[in-house]
Amino acid sequence: MPYKIKHLSIQGDGITDGPNGPIYIPFALTGELVEGEIDGNRIPKPRIVEPSSDRVKAPCPHFKTCGGCSMQHASDTFLADWKTNVVRNALAAHDLKSEFRPIITSPAQSRRRATFAAQRTKKGVLIGFHGRASDTVVDIPSCKLLHPDLMATMPALEALTKIGASRKAGISISVTQSAAGSDVSVLDAKEAGGPMMVELGALVEQFKLSRLSWNGEVVAMRAAPVQTFDGITVSPPVSAFLQATQSGQIAITKTVLEAVGDAKRIVDLFAGCGTFSLPLAKQAQVLAVEGEAPLLDSLDAAWRNADGLKTLETHKRDLFRNPMLKEDLKKIDAVVLDPPRAGAKAQCEALAEANLARIVFVSCNPVTFARDAKILVNAGYTIDWVQVIDQFRWSAHVELVALFTKN
Ligand SMILES: C[S@@+](CC[C@H](N)C(=O)[O-])C[C@H]1O[C@@H](n2cnc3c(N)ncnc32)[C@H](O)[C@@H]1O
Repeated sequence: MPYKIKHLSIQGDGITDGPNGPIYIPFALTGELVEGEIDGNRIPKPRIVEPSSDRVKAPCPHFKTCGGCSMQHASDTFLADWKTNVVRNALAAHDLKSEFRPIITSPAQSRRRATFAAQRTKKGVLIGFHGRASDTVVDIPSCKLLHPDLMATMPALEALTKIGASRKAGISISVTQSAAGSDVSVLDAKEAGGPMMVELGALVEQFKLSRLSWNGEVVAMRAAPVQTFDGITVSPPVSAFLQATQSGQIAITKTVLEAVGDAKRIVDLFAGCGTFSLPLAKQAQVLAVEGEAPLLDSLDAAWRNADGLKTLETHKRDLFRNPMLKEDLKKIDAVVLDPPRAGAKAQCEALAEANLARIVFVSCNPVTFARDAKILVNAGYTIDWVQVIDQFRWSAHVELVALFTKN
């Protein structure tokens, strides 16, 4: 007997009722009828008996084998509604509601950073993403997700794999697009001795990479990698956080700038290397608070090099253990916060005590966002609107910006 998909889980799996509770069915859409063998609480290999009108042919030829994307079987409209509803439902679970602005989705082929698995093979090298639920590396020459500039680094990555990987152990290569050339970080590679260092240095020149780090150490730098935040140039340290797409970064920044209004004194919490702090410093005095000193160092250097910015101070602080308190936030017009996936429970409890006119919450996890939103709403803040931003096209990942105000 076929199963009818009732709705999707937050990971994007179809859910139906089974004899012993919910059954999870990958690559199935709401309303579809599916068949297949149950294994535990899953149907790992479903056959679609009656497809949804939202089912589409996957745009990428690698979709069946590559584990990089999980939602290419759904139309753009379906994904837009589903991602918006993931946030709506997360809020509803805490009895919260908001106005939602239309979702903003990054285009195909715009992802500007990726971590590849790479290994040596009998024939040469293999570089790509891990296959679905497997350790096998899948070659992705026609990937529809990654920016063409990132794909263009493949010859350099092949050369690095030949040097760093063995037939027994693969390596991991993270690549970030930068205006000065790709910024490449190789992990789990063979130790780099003297002759290998020379070879790596030559490869950086040959392939015009900006920087190469090897097992966590910078081994060659042709030019400092640079990112631009609203026209302000920053040179981030190795493995710095960076919004996943250029268009996503622009959309989030524009939304944050609109949300702070004409605030003149702003605190940017979980500031990274200044994605929001630097653009905000065009209009306001900014205090950028962040847990990683190297990120703050590059933020500070960028501020010193830029023209026409207002005062910007940096403050290293663990905001989980030691959140900014009411007394730290006196005379502040707006707080921006952009925590990691764990959210900002302790910080929101402290913000609940402070009387802030505006809180602009950027989140990459609707579940922790809704938990933290409840703390703010219980303290008298209103959620004015939520802007969902989809930088992780064809995945179940959801990001958002929300404005909280208090009169
Ligand atoms: C989602 S990123 C946002 C960074 C920045 N707002 C941006 O858009 O580029 C989260 C930031 O929080 C920082 N972070 C993580 N845990 C932290 C903690 N306990 N205290 C302070 N900062 C932390 C990370 O280093 C990272 O820079």
